[in-house]
Amino acid sequence: MKIAVLAGDGIGPEIVAQAVRVLEALKSDGLKFELESGLLGGCAVDATGEPFPEATRRLVVDADAVILGAVGGPQYDTLPRPLRPERGLLGIRKALNLFANLRPAVLYPELANASTLKPEIVAGLDILIVRELTGDIYFGEPRGIEQREGQRVGFNTMIYSEAEIRRIAHVAFQAARKRSRRLCSVDKMNVLECTQLWRDVVTETAKAYPDIELSHMLVDNAAMQLIRDPRQFDVMVTGNMFGDILSDEASMLTGSIGMLPSASLDEGTKGMYEPIHGSAPDLAGKDVANPLATILSAAMMLRYTFDQEAEAVRIEDAVSKVLAQGYRTRDIYEPGMKKVGTTGMGDAVLANI
Ligand code: IPM
Ligand code: MG
Repeated sequence: MKIAVLAGDGIGPEIVAQAVRVLEALKSDGLKFELESGLLGGCAVDATGEPFPEATRRLVVDADAVILGAVGGPQYDTLPRPLRPERGLLGIRKALNLFANLRPAVLYPELANASTLKPEIVAGLDILIVRELTGDIYFGEPRGIEQREGQRVGFNTMIYSEAEIRRIAHVAFQAARKRSRRLCSVDKMNVLECTQLWRDVVTETAKAYPDIELSHMLVDNAAMQLIRDPRQFDVMVTGNMFGDILSDEASMLTGSIGMLPSASLDEGTKGMYEPIHGSAPDLAGKDVANPLATILSAAMMLRYTFDQEAEAVRIEDAVSKVLAQGYRTRDIYEPGMKKVGTTGMGDAVLANI
């Protein structure tokens, strides 16, 4: 197996380094892999003038899996749009056809007090958000800002084909089958035709899954219900933009966005694994960022690309133990706990592997 490692910008290199240490510790005769680093995002712009250079494209096309830190930073926000780090991230998702983004939001019991919601609302929370990742308003054309009748107008296009909806729906129904067999599809069909089609196609796809209980919810209500009573949800499936927003919202239920991993999968076993958080430029280089989301993303890689469930669970169990032992990075710290930095958290996970 070949793993492309794209550390990216900001805290990316620090958190990815900890995930790599954990993976190296698991290397054995049964689990063999090679790591190769590449540039993506702002660091790629600095080195090559492009956020997703050709050398990186070749690297990730050849690799079996990609581990990504985070991209972006304020110094890049004034670049022309095609040169921005975020374009590199969208480019790689599209180039590898990573249409299925799995974002589990799990509350570790030890972090119940770190959540901004009352512990009794979030205790036992375990949600899987399935976000479509290569379509929707993120990629729709036409898009732009232009002069019309003497003023600037900005426009984007929300668009989904039924094939795109169907394939992500299948991923979600199958994920639900492995969990509590409940799936909630989120749309805005009361206003947007595009998401009327979403609801229609998800409903049609449900015929192949009579064992799954399908419900539908409008996105504004879903945003509210996630705060009111998050445990009503098990698997949620939604489009690219709604999934972006709802997954950040769900992350706070778990205490910190620094805890949430993700897997972005193609039709086969190839995947890109990254924390859902950003590059946090204000934390970069200070050894304070929480590496657990990235370490848990490496566990997802072992599960989905390598089919090594036992090794994935080994990492997840080590993370649970570290939290039970009281190790906390700044974002999840409470008085009485053992405050550690990025490397210290990596050390603690390694000690439990
Ligand atoms: C995410 C991020 C990205 C997105 C940004 C960085 C382009 O917010 O992975 O959720 O919007 O998809
Ligand atoms: Mg996001």
